[in-house]
Amino acid sequence: MTYQGPNPDIIKSMFKKVAPSYDRGNDILSAGIHHLWRKKLVRLSRTQPGMAVLDCATGTGDLAIEFKKVVGPTGSVIGTDFCEDMMLTAPQKAQNQQLDIQYQTADVMNLPFADGQFDRVSISFGIRNVQDPQKAISEMARVTKSGGQVLILEFGQMKTPVVKDLYNFYFEKVLPYVGGLVTGQTEAYKYLQKSSSKFPCREDFLSWMDQTQHFSTTSYTSVSFGIAYIYQGIKR
Ligand SMILES: C[S@@+](CC[C@H](N)C(=O)[O-])C[C@H]1O[C@@H](n2cnc3c(N)ncnc32)[C@H](O)[C@@H]1O
Repeated sequence: MTYQGPNPDIIKSMFKKVAPSYDRGNDILSAGIHHLWRKKLVRLSRTQPGMAVLDCATGTGDLAIEFKKVVGPTGSVIGTDFCEDMMLTAPQKAQNQQLDIQYQTADVMNLPFADGQFDRVSISFGIRNVQDPQKAISEMARVTKSGGQVLILEFGQMKTPVVKDLYNFYFEKVLPYVGGLVTGQTEAYKYLQKSSSKFPCREDFLSWMDQTQHFSTTSYTSVSFGIAYIYQGIKR
């Protein structure tokens, strides 16, 4: 793969700085829509009560929470991230909703779990930040059971004319400025815009998944006119 992701040390220190205002930034800049995208991912995954789920690069834990609501008390959810500061608020958020979720520090490119341990393995808005996304996809597939699913939610580029121009104006000009005002982390929001504007999406991303040879089928669903995409791979 010729794609080179960002330096992990820079990413870790960027998220350490962003962590205290991450949720507020997300809520304001997406007008709360990011919650709907995570719910949609869980719906598409057809997760069932009692299943075992791993959410990688879980950050403040929102996707892990959505999964736990579905797997219920007989199921289990583990959230992992390589930046401990990003996970600081996650346990309390889960507890506030009486949800029992485990959180632990781990790099998605080297997961401390056995082969085939989970029914569903997910990552939302994390894969773009990983140095070698294909290695991360392979590692996620390794810990997924045969017949289980790897699920990835990530920004991409829109195709729809007009909507695309309006959105690009917002993403390039407004988001870094407002993001900076809300969180004090202008650079992080400039990085978000730059990295998303060139990150492989749709068939290009699916070809990364297919090249790992871990999946019997792969597919994608676009959300909000293609602002973001949900990728699904069924483990062989
Ligand atoms: C934009 S946040 C997304 C957090 C959360 N999943 C969400 O949807 O809001 C990206 C997260 O990826 C994490 N991350 C980046 N590279 C990672 C890696 N190699 N292993 C584990 N976590 C990583 C960062 O620490 C950060 O918490």
